[in-house]
Amino acid sequence: MSHNRSLLVTNCSQLVTLAGPPRPRIGAEMRELAIIPDGAMLVRNDRIAAVGTRAEIEPLAPQDTQVVEAQGRVVMPGFVDAHTHLIFAGNRSDEFEMRCAGATYQQISERGGGIRSTVRRTRAASEDDLVATGRKHARWFLSGGTTTVEAKSGYGLTVDDESKILRAIWRVSEATPLRCVPTFLGAHEIPEEFKSRPDDYVDLVVNEMLPRLVKENLVEFCDCFCEAKVFSVPQAEHVLTAAKQHGLGLRIHADQFTSGGAVELAARLGAKTADHLEQTTQESMNKMKQAGVQPVLLPASVYAIGSQKYAPARAMMEAGLPVVIATDFNPGSSPTTSMTMVLSLACTQMKMLPSEALTAATINAAYSLNRGHEIGSLEPGKIADFVLYDAEDYRELAYFFGIPRTAAVFAAGQEVDLGQLL
Ligand code: NIG
Ligand code: FE
Repeated sequence: MSHNRSLLVTNCSQLVTLAGPPRPRIGAEMRELAIIPDGAMLVRNDRIAAVGTRAEIEPLAPQDTQVVEAQGRVVMPGFVDAHTHLIFAGNRSDEFEMRCAGATYQQISERGGGIRSTVRRTRAASEDDLVATGRKHARWFLSGGTTTVEAKSGYGLTVDDESKILRAIWRVSEATPLRCVPTFLGAHEIPEEFKSRPDDYVDLVVNEMLPRLVKENLVEFCDCFCEAKVFSVPQAEHVLTAAKQHGLGLRIHADQFTSGGAVELAARLGAKTADHLEQTTQESMNKMKQAGVQPVLLPASVYAIGSQKYAPARAMMEAGLPVVIATDFNPGSSPTTSMTMVLSLACTQMKMLPSEALTAATINAAYSLNRGHEIGSLEPGKIADFVLYDAEDYRELAYFFGIPRTAAVFAAGQEVDLGQLL
């Protein structure tokens, strides 16, 4: 017999619903958060049943309702982080120190460090090791108020190791309240053993990795790092075209260090997103607009590699693009899971308004993962993923930085017990 469990969240200084048209938000819509002052929300099982003012919602609550007293805090949707490299072994604090001493991210990578050093460690790790680390990362995400992440493979670069990482992603998703959307990133770097014959590696990705991972039902999206000295536009095209034929959605690391046709490729193939875009031109933005490609901006990776060149977020919003912001959590360029840090950077460095940044980190991100109908806003029928923040006004989320302010996190209507994830 199924028992209906209900939850009343009340006394919210602001219930930030982000209710609006059922599609990614553009232009002035990105500033409309549909905030309900003195708000309340009723949850039934894992879904949102009603949102409104306290006066409207409290009378609707059944007698045995569990009450969550928000004590005048902001309540908002859980963050949707649409670009993460969730699973990797070890870390690169050694390279971090080298960068502090003046080496660049690319110099380290050209010397055999960078992604390749994480690949060596990830290959040596067992699936169970990766699940254990993934659970730790999941706790970091959840404790910052993130309830869904896109999670890329890409530190295995052999058929078995990529499969191992993707299975670990699934296991983390099942074992924790963090919802993971799996992306295959076999074309993340040319592995050491293929250095002199990169096209053979591309063939391995296309002919062996993709068919096996699709057959094992492990992936939903495919990504490729399209960049000078990594994968060229024709190589990326080969990988992404094959992925599309297998029915996967497409994402692409584009224009991070150099601008060389990756965005045009994304537009041509109808990719869901083009990510990074620090070097993107106005012309490329127009192509993204025409093709419906969403930009995913990753300011924490610009900050952490010590660059000053942030993506032109304002120009993108003016071009009518439904901008997304994400952490790019990874051990090299962006060792953070903090979406509030990303909000801070989006506002201070890319001159987004706090409202625009919040839209980019929730509902627009959800649409970029084909989940806009289920998550990313607090609307009746959607999954009850929400967060109580120690703030009275949503702008404080982007304003204070480096301070943990998550009072409580709920995923699918259940409070996340962060201690239990340790
Ligand atoms: O998104 N650009 C490529 N991939 C990651 C970095 C991965 C790493 O350094 O380990 C990024 O920045
Ligand atoms: Fe990335």
